Amino acid sequence: MVNLQSNFTLAMLDKLQELISEVQAFSANSKEKVEAFRIKFLGSKGILKDLFTEFKNVEPSQKKEFGQTLNTLKTLAETKVSELNNHLENSTQSKKVYGDLTRPGEPIELGTRHPISIVKNQIIDVFSRIGFTISEGPEIEDDWHNFTALNLPEYHPARDMQDTFFVEKNPDMLLRTHTSSVQIRYMENNKPPIRTISPGRVFRNEDISARSHCIFHQVEGLYIDTDVSFADLKQTLIYFTKEMFGKSKIRLRPSYFPFTEPSAEVDIYWGLKTETDYRITKGTGWLEIMGCGMVDPNVLKNTNIDPEKYSGFAFGMGIERIAMLLYQIPDIRMLFENDVRFLEQFKSVI
Ligand code: DAH
Repeated sequence: MVNLQSNFTLAMLDKLQELISEVQAFSANSKEKVEAFRIKFLGSKGILKDLFTEFKNVEPSQKKEFGQTLNTLKTLAETKVSELNNHLENSTQSKKVYGDLTRPGEPIELGTRHPISIVKNQIIDVFSRIGFTISEGPEIEDDWHNFTALNLPEYHPARDMQDTFFVEKNPDMLLRTHTSSVQIRYMENNKPPIRTISPGRVFRNEDISARSHCIFHQVEGLYIDTDVSFADLKQTLIYFTKEMFGKSKIRLRPSYFPFTEPSAEVDIYWGLKTETDYRITKGTGWLEIMGCGMVDPNVLKNTNIDPEKYSGFAFGMGIERIAMLLYQIPDIRMLFENDVRFLEQFKSVI
């Protein structure tokens, strides 16, 4: 009897060892399989439950060993279940992050450049190709750089051409009315030969309408060297209009600017092919795009450049006007409202 019971216990111990090996070797690639394993070993009608029931039949001297082995099996099975579940959870999480790696990538939403920036960059590009540098100056300017040095002394009637915003507490300071002020700063700080363009924001105390705004942008150009002639100016303008608009027919209309002598207004022949051309050019085919001229000797003197030795030309154009022309924008205010529906339309342009 004693032997029989002892044999029974030994068989049970062997069985426990087998089960331990089975638990250790177990692996699963789905939660369902882990759950089936858990039910098989740890469930209310599982193997461990049966074994604990068998415990009472174990020979007393073997109870200790049997009990310890049984506990080992139980702990191993419990650890296995939680380890496998953790592992599967982590790997489904990483699947969620990476998704299907063979899928084509999601397109990245591109931002849009503002049409003013697009046109400004195009103008910069065109002039960079023929050796012009880029220069900038302050938007809050003093009277000297915005007016006096540009041959517009106090009480000069031409000051009225540009309605100025003055700084309230200091009438010598103002918001620059044109980027010509940067010409002066550049000439004060650099020696000829000078070839520079100055893009920037300017301000005028004007009523806001579809065609004019109190804030807008200009690009100023300046070329100073020995023997610079009006022919050089004209060639530069022809080059610019050809590169910028694909049109090279221009005309120079005599005009007046205090800082240039002689001065001219530049018109390009836009044509009358379409209804829009007709409207843009008011039926003439010609369109004014900028002011220009030979730098007045007084301006050179004001910046300590010898007018006997050097001469030069300058020009200035409005960026809004050109942007409106190129993109057929009917109202200048659209350029300042930042309506996303308007701005989005420039996505494809660099
Ligand atoms: N500063 C002028 C304006 O704002 C534009 C201009 C005209 C600039 C002739 C020039 C120039 O450099 O030569 O209306």
